[in-house]
Amino acid sequence: MFAPSPSQLATIPRNRVAGLLAGSPKAELHVHIEGTLEPELIFALAQRNGVTLPYADVEALRNAYAFTDLQSFLDLYYAGCDVLRTEQDFFDLAWAYFERAARDHVVRVEPFFDPQSHTARGIGFAVFMPAFIQAAQRAQDELGLSVGWILSVLRHLPEDEALQTLRAAEPWLDHIIGLGLDSSERGNPPGKFVRVFARARQLGLHRVAHAGEEGPPEFVRGALDVLGVERIDHGVRASEDAALMERLARQQTPLTVCPLSNVRLCVVPDLAQHNLPQLLAAGIKVTVNSDDPAYFGGYVNDNLLQLFAAQPSLGASQAYALLRNSLEASFAADADKALWIAQLDARWQDAGRVA
Ligand code: ADE
Ligand code: ZN
Repeated sequence: MFAPSPSQLATIPRNRVAGLLAGSPKAELHVHIEGTLEPELIFALAQRNGVTLPYADVEALRNAYAFTDLQSFLDLYYAGCDVLRTEQDFFDLAWAYFERAARDHVVRVEPFFDPQSHTARGIGFAVFMPAFIQAAQRAQDELGLSVGWILSVLRHLPEDEALQTLRAAEPWLDHIIGLGLDSSERGNPPGKFVRVFARARQLGLHRVAHAGEEGPPEFVRGALDVLGVERIDHGVRASEDAALMERLARQQTPLTVCPLSNVRLCVVPDLAQHNLPQLLAAGIKVTVNSDDPAYFGGYVNDNLLQLFAAQPSLGASQAYALLRNSLEASFAADADKALWIAQLDARWQDAGRVA
């Protein structure tokens, strides 16, 4: 199966693009499992674990999701984690997300988990890792969904604590594909985490980092040069630096962009003004992702569909590129990627023929 040609893509009318986006195989490369904790599940787990929440009901909690910046979100996100106590809680969280992702035709997901938001509460790897492993196995068996877990360290905490976290993860490394870096970007440059990323490299882990979400373009450069990352999470502020844009395009470094997150955290004013089309037009390997879908109002298909609805310049060729980029940028085995890309191409070839 060949990729649809530019002329074939050009024949696909814009009103068919939404259906193709929603129904095509895709990878989700930027989702925090703790960010998939829906208010309904927060209340159910609070009840199960005897935790009293400072909100009367689900609606009151949802109403609190009015963020002014990244930190205002993180404060609620870490508070939400407090209801996650037992192995069953972590399993229920992961399994609910995998079922939801499969409905969006996600075939590969590389979710982040934040060990330090659990170990700080006395909940160790022996509680959450078996749950994550079992949920991933069931997703593969029952949903045909391939899962690769990425351990993410919190950048507002000292590097020594990140190193301790990576050490604690060593018995579980058969089930972890990479190291990530998240949490408060301002004031916490990539250079703070040189040793932990060097150790991850020695351990054979993939490396990614949040950069250029609220932080400046220099943090994107630092993540590449100092941490040696293979993908940049967010990276939208790269557009402020023409030389960096040119480098990202030349190196084909994937950016895992999260449009609804960027709007909800006031990184961009609205979807109509999101710079994703500009990044894509510059030749950068952009992907669309959901970040923390329970907090930002949408899973991956919502991100794709709402962005395309808001941006008239986006059509079939951009839609195909975003889907294909997601599969190519994943850390899955080459044979799996080739199979998913062939399935994607078959779907888009058909659409081109019947247009
Ligand atoms: N942790 C969860 N979501 C995040 C985001 N968007 N940026 C940084 N850290 C995060
Ligand atoms: Zn994120």
